[in-house]
Amino acid sequence: MDGNLTLKQGGAADAPFYLAQGGECALFEAASANDLPVLLKGPTGCGKTRFVAHMAAKLGRPLYTVACHDDLSAADLIGRYLLKGGETVWVDGPLTRAVREGAICYLDEVVEARKDVTVVLHPLTDDRRILPIDRTGEELEAAPGFMLVASYNPGYQNILKTLKPSTRQRFVAMEFDFPAPDLEARIVALESGLSEERAAALVRLAGKLRALKGQDLEEGVSTRLVIYAASLIVTGMPIERAIEAAMIQPLTDDADIKRGLLDLVTVVFG
Ligand SMILES: Nc1ncnc2c1ncn2[C@@H]1O[C@H](COP(=O)(O)OP(=O)(O)OP(=O)(O)O)[C@@H](O)[C@H]1O
Ligand SMILES: [Mg+2]
Repeated sequence: MDGNLTLKQGGAADAPFYLAQGGECALFEAASANDLPVLLKGPTGCGKTRFVAHMAAKLGRPLYTVACHDDLSAADLIGRYLLKGGETVWVDGPLTRAVREGAICYLDEVVEARKDVTVVLHPLTDDRRILPIDRTGEELEAAPGFMLVASYNPGYQNILKTLKPSTRQRFVAMEFDFPAPDLEARIVALESGLSEERAAALVRLAGKLRALKGQDLEEGVSTRLVIYAASLIVTGMPIERAIEAAMIQPLTDDADIKRGLLDLVTVVFG
């Protein structure tokens, strides 16, 4: 990790575990084979980041992940001149490195990025596949294998913070959601070490909590949080404590709503 929240991962051998929900792996591979950029949409903690890490490893490509925020500038992605030992040297940003190496560049929460960032992406995400670097006068052609992947959560961002049609219509888009209950129970069990039967009970509760989205809750409980609860239980925490800490408290600060959610726990776990 550096100051720009960039993470480089690589190597096919250590493909992180990912349980497919449908045809998403085949679609990603087809997009990759056709040099098409991919946009992943879906709620928090449903597996988008894990999916990209898994696919990058499976395709044997290095992966540059950039967590976008509203202060992220085009220079953070492309690179800048830095002073090193009295000399000014050009240092590639993560996007430029990915373009040169034929790697996957993953822009997480892309809607958070500033407008000048999306402009940079345009010539890279159509059939030109070029990255103009104004500061050095270079015009880089993306190496074979370069792929741009972006993700965002359409739920909680406000309407103003959505992508322009001219940007979003440059991507093949895939919608993610929480896995079907049997798959989610397997994921929770495998990630936490809890038995599948007990994981299934947590997933049932998650389903009930998710049904409250939009009424009492802004976002339904994520797969990530269900795994947290399961992990706490595995280390010996009483079930109710674990559920409250991992699946109730993170969802809301409202005391009445919390009480209502805890009642649901009693319904599921009796
Ligand atoms: N299909 C899956 N296979 C394996 N693990 C999964 C799957 N879906 C979710 N997970 C688990 O859920 C956790 C959260 O997923 P991930 O971090 O990929 O969410 P995300 O969609 O990127 O969320 P955010 O929008 O908050 O970044 C992962 O660490 C992993 O343990
Ligand atoms: Mg993520």
